[in-house]
Amino acid sequence: MDFDFDKVIPRQNTNSVKWDLSADKNVLPMWVADMDFATAPAITEALAMRVSHGIFGYTITPPTFYDAIISWWQSRHAFPLQKDWLMPVPGVLPALSVIIRAFAKQGDKIIVQSPVYNHFFISIQNCGCEALCNNLVYANGNYSMDFDDLEQKAADSSVKLMLLCNPHNPVGRVWTKDELLKVKEICTRHNVLVISDEIHSDIVYDGFKHIPFASLDESATKHSITCASPSKTFNLAGIQSAYMICANEDIRKKLELILNEQDTIFLNAFSAEALIAAYRHGVEWMNELKQYLYANYIFLLDFISRELPQIKILPLQATYLVWIECKALHKTSDDIANALLQKHQLWVNSGTLYGANGEGFIRLNIATPRVLLEKGLNKLKDFVNSQ
Ligand SMILES: Cc1ncc(COP(=O)(O)O)c(C=O)c1O
Repeated sequence: MDFDFDKVIPRQNTNSVKWDLSADKNVLPMWVADMDFATAPAITEALAMRVSHGIFGYTITPPTFYDAIISWWQSRHAFPLQKDWLMPVPGVLPALSVIIRAFAKQGDKIIVQSPVYNHFFISIQNCGCEALCNNLVYANGNYSMDFDDLEQKAADSSVKLMLLCNPHNPVGRVWTKDELLKVKEICTRHNVLVISDEIHSDIVYDGFKHIPFASLDESATKHSITCASPSKTFNLAGIQSAYMICANEDIRKKLELILNEQDTIFLNAFSAEALIAAYRHGVEWMNELKQYLYANYIFLLDFISRELPQIKILPLQATYLVWIECKALHKTSDDIANALLQKHQLWVNSGTLYGANGEGFIRLNIATPRVLLEKGLNKLKDFVNSQ
């Protein structure tokens, strides 16, 4: 390996949400979705160069920002984008809020597939709308979509949008073309606009392929909005660089209106620099990162099968967020997460954060050097053995 993912870099006292939110400095954080690895050197170099200029005035988004995104999506996902389809935004969450405000009014409903990324619920609520859960189906250790239920929910006239998580956080699924086509067919029939959150689309493991929702066919291209960012892939969440992809000019005009109203039209002085460096020079780093993350997953599987066979690890097709079934412990997810934090100084996410049907699960972030992963797993083992 050319890049050192084993290196432990202290993150305390860096204003890190992950490491500095807990007052207890002995807490090992394996919760929020950022990684404990230094980003790709090419990105750090580009940012250092920008910093060395010393002037950080109002910043335009250069043509190279759009070019970098277009070549990334062409080479990674074989999806040809056009420059005018791209709209820079400071993050995927700000993008979701812009989209919801543009296409739903107070009291409207938005479909989500629970258990799902918790901030979907928060963004929907912040806009005065209601999340309508098309629950994923859990059977034989695997998740799938419930299309009959989706059909029923999409038929509700107060449903305006569906918020798709593609790939899915927290259940780790990469949706197949067949599944996405069914979603598209149902939503098109009921005039429900699909927002596809593809922030996790680069960290997809061997044997699986990310299919951009908008690439399915012409109607999906024209009637969807995709949100994406290099932030999960390259550990850049604090840099705030993201974009929406939308091929439909009428939809874009509505989005632009809200972006202007909210004054979220400009990126900061580092956003474009980081994205351009990532997408132009970050592929080798990303490929090694994926190998390391998957080796962490295998390490976790091996540890759990030897030490904690009562716990079930779900298949990880994408992301570095592992969904773990703990039903055999006969405790609520909240009790497990609280006991892990209070008694064993391990911070994981309770499954119910992602919807009521996350009960019986916890989510563990494994994007950390293996030595810290092992430390976390030993804390989990101490907890289970103390029951
Ligand atoms: C599915 C999903 N969307 C959006 C975000 C947050 O995106 P951003 O930091 O760009 O607002 C996350 C972060 O974990 C996520 O998992």
